[in-house]
Amino acid sequence: MRKELNGKTRTCGLLGNPVEHTLSPLIHNSLAEMKDINMVYVPFLVEIPEITTAVKGAYALNLLGMNATVPFKSDVIPHLIDVDELAADIGAVNTLVRVDGGYKGYNTDMSGLFRAMQSENIVLEQEEIIILGAGGAARAVAYMCANYGAKHITILNRTLPKAQAIATEINESMKKKSRWEEDCMEAMPLDAYTKLPDRKYIVIQSTSVGLHPHIDEVVIEDKKFYEKVSIGFDLIYKPAETKFMKLVKEAGGKSYNGLKMLLYQGVIAFELWNDVKVTEEEAMQVYAELEKAVRV
Ligand code: ATR
Repeated sequence: MRKELNGKTRTCGLLGNPVEHTLSPLIHNSLAEMKDINMVYVPFLVEIPEITTAVKGAYALNLLGMNATVPFKSDVIPHLIDVDELAADIGAVNTLVRVDGGYKGYNTDMSGLFRAMQSENIVLEQEEIIILGAGGAARAVAYMCANYGAKHITILNRTLPKAQAIATEINESMKKKSRWEEDCMEAMPLDAYTKLPDRKYIVIQSTSVGLHPHIDEVVIEDKKFYEKVSIGFDLIYKPAETKFMKLVKEAGGKSYNGLKMLLYQGVIAFELWNDVKVTEEEAMQVYAELEKAVRV
């Protein structure tokens, strides 16, 4: 832990409810120590109706930056003076950076997922992507894939209308920005995976199925599906190897969990707050700490 707090210490923190299981203090306090930056990161348990007061209070207390987690990722947006384009598209902010007059919002969950993929040499450009799930996480992943140049995205969900709503929204948004001329995304019910054309896909598992302690559950059981998977990326990091990841591996694909996404969302937030660059070596030291923390 850090050596000294003094009159020049800058404070960052997490706005959430609950907050007690967060790994963010470990990420940020390790980075601060490693880079010899006089910053401390603490959790703030905020009652839901108090979010307005909390953001105003944070600014009044000269807080350098904050993360926002459940249930505030969308509700914090009206209290910001600026929002980064990707975060605005997604409609969710997880990082608040102090600027003149207030905070600017970013979504480093998604830039973090992108950086995690880059660090594993996974390229999205011109790839066929499948997203499993259509909740808040899946929606953000869909924007990320569309923004970073995926060739085509298929979103599969148990409740089809939720997947359809995301696909329609993204197709419209991408056409409006002239990034795509035709639809880049289509929705299917989960059990329509049997109708997917025979080719290899990058699959991003964005449902909550398989999360600790339900480690024997998986959203698609059929081994035939996994023959089409070249890379399987699960947003879950506990357990370290989900059943989804096991099935991908057994069918010959490569699989990754969400721990590097967690790492890099923190790294990018730290870089934004402190205007520094975290090296891969430093990030990997923090990663080793995270691996230990998740194991217990
Ligand atoms: P988050 O914000 O983390 O994305 P969420 O919005 O609750 O969480 O979304 C959870 C996702 O997991 C949804 O896509 C949900 O499917 P439905 O939209 O049909 O509810 C999916 N999910 C959860 N349990 C599931 C199960 N047993 N089988 C299939 N999908 C499931």
